[in-house]
Amino acid sequence: MNYRVPRTRKEIFETLIKGLQRLEYRGYDSAGVAIDGHNNEVKERYIQLVKKRGNVKALDEELYKQDSMDLKVEFETHFGIAHTRWATHGVPNAVNSHPQRSDKGNEFVVIHNGIITNYKDLRKFLESKGYEFESETDTETIAKLIKYVFDNRETEDITFSTLVERVIQQLEGAFALVFKSIHYPGEAVATRRGSPLLIGVRSKYKLSTEQIPILYRTRNFENVKNICKTRMKRLDSSTCLHAVGDKAVEFFFASDASAIIEHTNRVIFLEDDDIAAVADGKLSIHRVKRSASDDPSRAIQTLQMELQQIMKGNFSAFMQKEIFEQPESVFNTMRGRVNFETNTVLLGGLKDHLKEIRRCRRLIVIGCGTSYHAAVATRQVLEELTELPVMVELASDFLDRNTPVFRDDVCFFISQSGETADTLLALRYCKDRRALTVGVTNTVGSSISRETDCGVHINAGPEIGVASTKAYTSQFISLVMFGLMMSEDRISLQNRRREIICGLRSLPGLIKEVLSLDEKIHDLALELYTQRSLLVMGRGYNYATCLEGALKIKEITYMHSEGILAGELKHGPLALIDKQMPVIMVIMKDPCFAKCQNALQQVTARQGRPIILCSRDDTESSKFAYKTIELPHTVDCLQGILSVIPLQLLSFHLAVLRGYDVDFPRNLAKSVTVE
Ligand code: G6P
Repeated sequence: MNYRVPRTRKEIFETLIKGLQRLEYRGYDSAGVAIDGHNNEVKERYIQLVKKRGNVKALDEELYKQDSMDLKVEFETHFGIAHTRWATHGVPNAVNSHPQRSDKGNEFVVIHNGIITNYKDLRKFLESKGYEFESETDTETIAKLIKYVFDNRETEDITFSTLVERVIQQLEGAFALVFKSIHYPGEAVATRRGSPLLIGVRSKYKLSTEQIPILYRTRNFENVKNICKTRMKRLDSSTCLHAVGDKAVEFFFASDASAIIEHTNRVIFLEDDDIAAVADGKLSIHRVKRSASDDPSRAIQTLQMELQQIMKGNFSAFMQKEIFEQPESVFNTMRGRVNFETNTVLLGGLKDHLKEIRRCRRLIVIGCGTSYHAAVATRQVLEELTELPVMVELASDFLDRNTPVFRDDVCFFISQSGETADTLLALRYCKDRRALTVGVTNTVGSSISRETDCGVHINAGPEIGVASTKAYTSQFISLVMFGLMMSEDRISLQNRRREIICGLRSLPGLIKEVLSLDEKIHDLALELYTQRSLLVMGRGYNYATCLEGALKIKEITYMHSEGILAGELKHGPLALIDKQMPVIMVIMKDPCFAKCQNALQQVTARQGRPIILCSRDDTESSKFAYKTIELPHTVDCLQGILSVIPLQLLSFHLAVLRGYDVDFPRNLAKSVTVE
């Protein structure tokens, strides 16, 4: 939204569409915008909604087809909203896409990320009051609810943020919301609970403050069915953020910094239940209740993210770019933390809690999808280096089981985005039981990084491809570094620690060597891309590679793929093996080598034709292989970082050959902020 910064409608469209494109990886089945229309005859603004099924490009084209849109019209103050959707309630179509509206006159419009769990009750209530619904979404309830609150207001001068405050009192579930209304032209209100939301601030002029004090309500009010009066504290300039002297300032609301980074790197992260309002060029934040953290203000932070980091460059897909970034991303994860001279590791975010962690009863490592696989991959080395029992858990299952957690447990939450709802709920569950919580995320300011007691930022740089690649290898390294830090005083582990640290040092170079196999892997993909199934088998340190490789293949190629623990082969999966079934076996020179040979024999005895990922000097496995991909050797517990990369590349090439959009796999989203 701009204030005293004249912008044409065309510029406003471009800002909104570009922002959506940067966020498209989060959901892409439909998209929409709401901007100010302008009726020159009656000199009146109205809200124009444009929504379209499909990707953001389709919406962009649609905008320019609308005759009523004079692109040159200039606005000194304008607030537009836009959304790209990943369907939870209701099929992807224009009606179900956002913004959702209160009525046919578009009096209130809202965009929403998250899920409203009590929407059925709210909808029933609103329908009984005569409000007619047009979509199948949970979000439409919010649009109707705000109109209901407005229609039943007790005073004429009720503020927009008061309406929103009343609305969110009635909502259950998770949400990040941004509202626009014809009753409050040039104003914006945004709020969140459980879903991320930040505000970017851009101004050429000095800002009034770097810390925005939070306003609290003086008294609570009752529920929406019985609206009673509330007193609104008056805002004065010290409680707001604005450019000094009411100069030009622009505010950007977004669920992810990548949407706004080309305009500003100055951002404010909102906390749950914050209500942020921009009116008259001033931003204020208020809350009904004091926050858990009790922080009385929100600071403007400067992000380090570069625009270039979220552009594809010369690559055909973000996923491909991110696979090839791994020599640098793993280096960045270690930078300033691993001292190769003294063989020590220092994770600044954990150092104050190290004593407590060393005293704990067990470690529980929790995540979803790829992040869970990073936990599986490092479990053994963590057990070895920490000498503690380590449980690895899928967040959803952990919660389903009501797993017992105690105050002397240390719980790790692994999440690239730091926003995955299942992982966040597991975090809150563990916090309630007073365990020490540790976040391992890639997103500064994310919910998980803020709500955990301490943590590690993996520093992999923004990951845009829905199929996670560089985040996995950086999560892997972060967990290994944690194990190394825990074992610093263990005399008996010194040689092992040295070996691992030495392995870490050579990783970026070895990753480059693996990436140079790309052409060979492309040729392999040419042979495999018409297959329906692909099994990936291994054990020990490389079991996680099989799970992760199979997940990559499933996610973007839509082939059936299974990661199989080679030790379980004879207990079932062997029945799948015949001459036709493509099988990839991961066999590395590590303590499981002999057992893997055993599995290889079982596969070849059933006429299977395995493609083997093996060490360069492994003449034994290659004798039985249909094909081999030979990898450089590193220390056993780090080998999984090298062995996963050929599978990342393979899934990429398979998806391209099968004609699929690698970065936008069907039905999936990068950051799943719903349970
Ligand atoms: C989604 C993504 C996966 C990702 C998982 C966990 O399902 O599609 O690629 O691994 O969420 O995400 P997180 O951000 O918590 O690591």
